[in-house]
Amino acid sequence: IPRQRIRNFCIIAHIDHGKSTLADRLLEYTNTISERKMQDQVLDKMDLEKERGITIKAKAVRMIYKADDGKEYLLNLIDTPGHVDFNYEVSRSLAACEGALLIVDASQGIEAQTLANTYLALEHNLEIIPIINKIDLPSAEPDEAKREVEEIIGLDAENAIMTSAKTGQGVKEVLEAIVQRIPAPEGCNELPLRALIFDSLYDPYKGAVAFVRVIDGHIRPKQMIKMMSTNNIFEVAEIGVFNPDMQPVQYLQAGEVGYVAAGIKNVIDTRVGDTITDAENPAKKPLPGYKKAVPMVFCGMYPAEGEEYESLKEALGKLQLSDASLFFEPETSAALGFGFRCGFLGLLHMDVVQERLEREYNLNIITTAPSVIFKVKKTDGSKIEVDNPTNFPDPAEIEYIEEPYVEASIMLPTEYMGAVMDLCQEKRGTMKDMEYINEKRVILRYDMPLSEIIYDLFDQLKSRTRGYASLDYELTGYKKSDMVKLDILLNGEIVDALSFIVHKDKAYGRARQITEKLKEVIPRHLFEVPIQAAIGGKIIARETVKALRKNVLAKCYGGDISRKKKLLEKQKEGKKRMRKIGNVELPQEAFMAVLKME
Ligand code: GTP
Repeated sequence: IPRQRIRNFCIIAHIDHGKSTLADRLLEYTNTISERKMQDQVLDKMDLEKERGITIKAKAVRMIYKADDGKEYLLNLIDTPGHVDFNYEVSRSLAACEGALLIVDASQGIEAQTLANTYLALEHNLEIIPIINKIDLPSAEPDEAKREVEEIIGLDAENAIMTSAKTGQGVKEVLEAIVQRIPAPEGCNELPLRALIFDSLYDPYKGAVAFVRVIDGHIRPKQMIKMMSTNNIFEVAEIGVFNPDMQPVQYLQAGEVGYVAAGIKNVIDTRVGDTITDAENPAKKPLPGYKKAVPMVFCGMYPAEGEEYESLKEALGKLQLSDASLFFEPETSAALGFGFRCGFLGLLHMDVVQERLEREYNLNIITTAPSVIFKVKKTDGSKIEVDNPTNFPDPAEIEYIEEPYVEASIMLPTEYMGAVMDLCQEKRGTMKDMEYINEKRVILRYDMPLSEIIYDLFDQLKSRTRGYASLDYELTGYKKSDMVKLDILLNGEIVDALSFIVHKDKAYGRARQITEKLKEVIPRHLFEVPIQAAIGGKIIARETVKALRKNVLAKCYGGDISRKKKLLEKQKEGKKRMRKIGNVELPQEAFMAVLKME
């Protein structure tokens, strides 16, 4: 198929607006995949993804569509992740396309994340086709959704396509619009090879596989290729297309989308955004926009059982093979023993990694409170970066501290405005502006510390707006802030894994909450256990777990044997999940208590 008949596009949609369902309909209509195979939605591969309903990793699929003009077109759909943690990957996927379908749920309207991604698409000069989906729903208000597309995004919605991905209505119109409205890719086969890596995966047989859009030139098996960000050279073992499974081909040319396997051992060498060129006839300049993904959120991950350290190390290593933005290095904690300091793109990324470790690798993990990277200027003139409370310098050595700030956009129904403004105030936010979309919905923009967002902003927003608000944020820079390290002491001993860095004004409140919470979850011992919170050695809150009275133990005697056995079993189970800190038994929940506050 000649380049004039190739169309590369992606789908922009808020979670649950119907991206996967519509993609499925497109695949069915073009016979890319039979209905029988369709039971599982093709574009979301990971189980975890399905359960969370979040597209985590971008994937691609190609379709052949015979259009009304009687000609066959090659359509490449590139899937984009729908979460703010993966914004950079989204931008690279968009850079691989000439057009985008913008799906808006007719009963929900536009959401913050949709808006952010649409702006990204406009920045990349993509042709955007608005699609109003779920028009079969009784609660659908397609005209209102159209109006929002026009007023909020400023797109002409006159030609918006009305679909029901559920019934299949409008699917053919979508395919025709892709052919007619999205331009064919430009590019030149004769120029030196430049291929944009927009995603990668790790395959046990093929190694790290790069998903590419060929911009200029062409690529074939046995060719020597060079990664332009690292200058590393590889020999192409296999190239192919997504059908939707990987299918080898002999040739990929300018405008095409496919994969490249070259015996690459690690996805570190197939970085998203990097440019692949010909090693013998390299391009002069790489494609613009490459950024190395940097972790923004850090936490400690420890095996609940000490013996699982090696398994955890192995599992993290395996995950890293397919996730170049996951960072980890060994660290030790007096309280938790040997574990790892891990870095993530954001909180969702962190949750996903933790869940995969528990599910796919059967590990039981204790995580410490997530932290951002603080910049500390010390009195001796040096400047250090701190992502681990343990490395926080003594207050006497600190000249000033800076913390990362973001611009947060929150879209919500006007009736929750008061509640959300209160929340943002509590989160040390300053309002930058407020924009009414219509009489029912508004966008609030705030300057806010990233550390407040990762603490519990998502959860709070959800609960205070009954799930009707959506949030998007972007890092803007560092600002001076009065941060302190809060230590928790049990029986007079600091538990390093419970320490965290917090704003001075919040320290007292947080200290009280945590000591109270810990009092609830720490079992009684034979002696009194004081729980204290301290800043730089000064105690600012205290609770006490009273000593156990001896006669309570008497209950353990008597009763029939099977019951006793059960009790013993239970105790054993319980023991397992206890950590001994000095002479205090600390349940795993205690660590959660620091992470989550109701
Ligand atoms: P993520 O993969 O979680 O980002 O969501 P998505 O945007 O891919 O949404 P998905 O296709 O999974 O659809 C979300 C829900 O909406 C599913 O329960 C679908 O069955 C349903 N749905 C999708 N399209 C339609 C539609 O046109 N009409 C109706 N009634 N339901 C739809």
